Amino acid sequence: MKVLVTGGAGYIGSHVVRQLLLRGDDVLVADNLSNGHREAAGTACLEVMDLSDNAGFRNLLKTFQPEAVIHFAAFIEVGESMQNPLKYYQNNTANGFTLLAACRDSGVKNFIFSSSAAVYGTPKAVPVPETAPPAPINPYGFSKLFVEQALRDMATSADFRYVALRYFNAAGADPSGEIGESHNPESHLIPLILKAASGEREGIKIFGTDYSTPDGTCVRDYVHVNDLADAHLKALDYLRDGGESRVFNCGYGRGYSVREVVAAVRQVTGKDFSVTEAPRRAGDPAELVADSRELAETLKWKPQFDNLRTIIETAWNWELNRRY
Ligand code: UFG
Repeated sequence: MKVLVTGGAGYIGSHVVRQLLLRGDDVLVADNLSNGHREAAGTACLEVMDLSDNAGFRNLLKTFQPEAVIHFAAFIEVGESMQNPLKYYQNNTANGFTLLAACRDSGVKNFIFSSSAAVYGTPKAVPVPETAPPAPINPYGFSKLFVEQALRDMATSADFRYVALRYFNAAGADPSGEIGESHNPESHLIPLILKAASGEREGIKIFGTDYSTPDGTCVRDYVHVNDLADAHLKALDYLRDGGESRVFNCGYGRGYSVREVVAAVRQVTGKDFSVTEAPRRAGDPAELVADSRELAETLKWKPQFDNLRTIIETAWNWELNRRY
């Protein structure tokens, strides 16, 4: 299949690109490399361009004529979105709409959107199903939800179908060691703890120990990035085979607390490091766990890395031998 992947040099995008290439799809990556890495796109053809370059995208779509677009390119920092909301609404939402218009005008009929558990805000109950009312608590979550809404409206008004995947906490790295997570600055829990284990950081802070969770720390559904990537490939096949537009959660349905993740990292790495208790981080819900039964049933998604130890082992392997 001919697939355009925006943000294909980023963390999740690069793992999708790798799997698409392995199965022989024709992949074109468009990435401005602001957070992505040239090496992460592998052997895919890479166009360095910004999502705001509407004429450039229109030209790309006209010449490449993809059968599907997978759209990752976006800013992802919740905290930053609170400080600078318009940056998120401009890039994730407004530029996302412009991309959608370009897709409509060039006849793209299949679209996969990288959405987020952030659209749920603080869910009333976990595991959270897709039918739970969206109620973001930060601009990042809204910036994704607005694009979901535009997709829903487009799909009812045009010959256009989409799958939006609401990721829970992406983690881990491809076992090949060739690609992995590399954000600058890093703000995600698992890579930060691994940097503490490797000695690159002094230690780790636990943000909040007074949540209404079993050990007082936040609980998240960590899902291996290759299982997430596989969900995209299955979503592509689903749309190609005529599947109707859908929104799916993407997680394992099992949560781990921050303390449990710290303990698992100590066990996997055999390293000790300092852990300090700090105040809550603004905007963190106590518990986010996915009900992903729809994804498993409709797309026949069968996770292969559903194990915290495996997630940490692959991330540790990457951390010790990073290529970028
Ligand atoms: N945490 C710490 N110490 C740290 C970093 C994180 O205790 O140094 C805690 C956080 O407070 C949170 C948990 O570890 O409880 C996970 O934090 P991450 O930053 O790794 O991930 P988030 O759950 O905040 O973010 C993820 C995705 C976002 C998405 C969000 C939805 O990375 O893209 O879920 O809520 F928006």
